This record gives sequence, C-alpha cells and structure tokens, in this order.
Amino acid sequence: MQIYLDTADVNEIKEYVELGLCDGVTTNPSILAKGGADIRTAISAIAKVVNGPVNVEPIALDYDGIIKEAEEYSNIGKNIVIKLPMIKEGLKAVATLKKRKIMTSLTLVFSPAQALLAAKAGADFVIPFVGRVDDGGAYGTEMVAQIMQIFQIYQFKAKVLAASIRTPMHVIELASAGVDIVSVPKSVLETMLKHPYTDAGIKKFLEDWNKKKT
Ligand code: E4P
Repeated sequence: MQIYLDTADVNEIKEYVELGLCDGVTTNPSILAKGGADIRTAISAIAKVVNGPVNVEPIALDYDGIIKEAEEYSNIGKNIVIKLPMIKEGLKAVATLKKRKIMTSLTLVFSPAQALLAAKAGADFVIPFVGRVDDGGAYGTEMVAQIMQIFQIYQFKAKVLAASIRTPMHVIELASAGVDIVSVPKSVLETMLKHPYTDAGIKKFLEDWNKKKT
C-alpha cells in the first residue's frame, strides 16, 4: 500500500519523504487556500521534493477552463496529476488529457457506481472520500472495499486512492481491503506512529542502563 500526504505544506512533505513514508501528495483548493502562496508556486515546490505523483485540482469547472489550467500545471513536472471532479466536464477532460499523456485522477467519488464510471473513463486514479461518507451516515471504508472488489474482478488499471482519511482505523480497514493508496494528513500519520508502550519501553531501557553504569 502506498501512502500519500494530504497536504500542501512542503515542510511536512519533506519530513515524511525523509522518513521514507511519502509516496505522493494530494492537494485540493481548500488545502492550497490555507497555504497562501499561488497554486503554481506551491505545487512547483512540492513537486521538487516528492519522487511520486502530486495531485493538483484546477479551479475551473468548464471543460475549456479545466484543460487550460491542466496544461499550465502539467508543465511543472512529469509527476503532476490533474485532479478532476467526478462530473461530466471532468470525465471529458480525462479523455483529452489521456491523449496528451497527462496523468489524471477523478475526485469527490462517493459511491461504487461513480468509481466504476471513473475507471471506465480511463482515469489513472479514482479518489473515494472515506471520512465524508462516514459524515453522511454511511460506512466509508466498506464503500472502498466494494470498489476494490469491482476493480479486481474487471482488472481495471485505475488505482484506488482513498482520501478524506480521519483516523488510523480508517487506514487499517483500507489496508485490510487491499486499497492501492491512502492519502493521509500528517496528524493521522503521527497518531499511527506513536504508542505509549514504545515510549515507556525506551524510558525503562535507559533507566536500567544508567543504573548499571553507577
Ligand atoms: C484529497 O484528495 C481530498 O481532497 C481530501 O482528503 C479531503 O479530505 P477532507 O474530507 O478531510 O476535507
């Protein structure tokens, strides 16, 4: 399973690249708005530090506008993925960008039906939103498990990139379902990494060692 960072904070990305735990990045307009820098500047900085796909979402919602922004962003580097909303204009843009050999993802996917169409349309990545499905009273990781099953039956090339991850248990349930990629905020990774028994074990080992020397 690959792990992407769900952030536009280049320092967080650098830190997790150094830990060997960042295979790629997802951003969205809300995440980029927090950073303050213009999209091109922020994405260029990220694309330099990550040796993997970097997802950037055009702001335009009409086909011509999407293609114009997609061309500008795809010039930043070979690892740029154009992240498009799961609407007809997004699907149409996937077809055009595929011909131009530009990688695409279809985002804001909330059902196996949408995921099936996204894969059929030829997107490289399909992005179901786990946490937001939970927010709506359904079971996000179960939706992703069903998507995985469909993709395996038909051997779709599209990778399932689960996003809107809120807890370590989301990650574990997704890993159990065999998801290709999870995109996780730093806060969730930090919680996954830590265990009180690890800290207590380190403290005890040091105390015992120091006793021996005195
Ligand atoms: C990333 O691709 C998504 O835009 C992001 O994970 C959404 O997360 P949220 O539902 O916590 O805003």
